[in-house]
Amino acid sequence: MSNDNKKIVLTCAQPTGKLHLGNYLGAVKNWVALLKDHECFFGIVDMHAITMPYVPADLRRSTLECAAQYIACGLDPKDCHIFIQSQVTGHAELAWILSCLTPVGQLQRMTQFKDKSNKQNESISSGLLYYPVLMAADILLYNTDIVPVGHDQKQHIELTRDLAEKFNSHYSETFKVPEAYIPKVGARIMSLQNPENKMSKSDPNQNGTLYLLDDPKILRKKIMSAVTDSGSEIVASEEKPGITNLLNILSVASNTTVKDLEKQFQGLGYADLKKAVADAVTKMFTPIRKKYNQLIADKNYLNEILKNGADAAQKKAYRTLSKVYRKSGYLERGK
Ligand code: TYM
Repeated sequence: MSNDNKKIVLTCAQPTGKLHLGNYLGAVKNWVALLKDHECFFGIVDMHAITMPYVPADLRRSTLECAAQYIACGLDPKDCHIFIQSQVTGHAELAWILSCLTPVGQLQRMTQFKDKSNKQNESISSGLLYYPVLMAADILLYNTDIVPVGHDQKQHIELTRDLAEKFNSHYSETFKVPEAYIPKVGARIMSLQNPENKMSKSDPNQNGTLYLLDDPKILRKKIMSAVTDSGSEIVASEEKPGITNLLNILSVASNTTVKDLEKQFQGLGYADLKKAVADAVTKMFTPIRKKYNQLIADKNYLNEILKNGADAAQKKAYRTLSKVYRKSGYLERGK
C-alpha cells in the first residue's frame, strides 16, 4: 500500500527525562504494532517540555536520548517519521489559530492543568494553560486519523476533536476529526509506591517508577519493594490497587490475560507475583537497553534520522498550514 492510501498515525512524548514503564506499555509498545499498516509520525515534543521549569542543557540531551529510546523500542526509522517538534514550522502557528477558538475556561478546567499547576509553587506560565491547544495543533497539522496514547491523554484528544469540529464548522471542512487509540490493558500504569497515582517521571518517590534504562538490579529492587495490599489473594479488584497494578504490568509484559494470571497465581504469595513481574520486566527491557547503548553512541546516525523525520513532517505540516491560512483569511505571501 502506498503511503497516500494509509491512515495517518501521530503521537508524541515529552523529552523530560527518560521513558518509563507507563510510557512503554501505555504508549510506545502499541505504536510499534501500528507501523506496518499506517503512515506514522512520532514527535518528540520539546516545545511542550518548556511549559514547566527546566534546564536547557538537560532538555538538549534528553531530546536526543528520547529519539534513541524510540528506536530502541522498535520504532524502525525505515517505517516511520521520527521528528523533533521545534524543528518543524507550523506547530506553534496552528496552535495560535486554534487558541483563538478555545475558551480560556475550558483550558482552566483541564485535569492535567489543574494537577500540574497545583504542584507548582512558582508562577504558572500561560504556556502550561495553552499546552492542550499546542497538542491539538500537533495532531491536526498532520491530518491524523489515529492518536495512540495512554489513558491520561484522553481529555486532550477530546479537546482536539472539539477544536477540529469547531474549525470545520466556522471556516468549512478542513480537518479530519482524529480518534484516540487507548489500549485495554496498560493504558494506566500506576506508581509502585503509591498505586493510587499514575507512574510518572516527576514522582517525588522515584522507587515507584521503572525506567526503560534502569539497571536490571535496580528494576528488581524497585519491583520487590512495591507496595501491596492487605490480604493474600492475588486478584485484580478496586480494593487491591497494588496487586491490580502488578497484574496489569505482568499481563501486558507476558501477553497473558489478567484472568489467566489470577488462575496461575492461585495459592501463591505476593512475593511470587513480584518475582514474576521482575523477571518479565527485566526480560522486556534488557534488549531495549542494549540497543539504546549502541544508538546513543552514534549521534551522527540519530541526527540524520531526525533530519529525515523533520523533512517528511515539514512537507505535511506546510500543506495543512497553507490550507488553514487560506481559510482563515490570510493573504498569500508575495501576492
Ligand atoms: P507524556 O510524555 O507524558 O507520555 C507519553 C505517552 O505515555 C503515556 N503514559 C502512560 N501510559 C500508561 N501509564 C502511565 N503511567 C503513563 N504515563 C504516560 C501517555 O499517555 C502518552 O501517550 N501530552 C503528551 C505529549 C503530546 C502528545 C501530542 C501526545 C504532545 N503532543 C500529540 C499525542 C499527540 C504527554 O505529555 O505525554
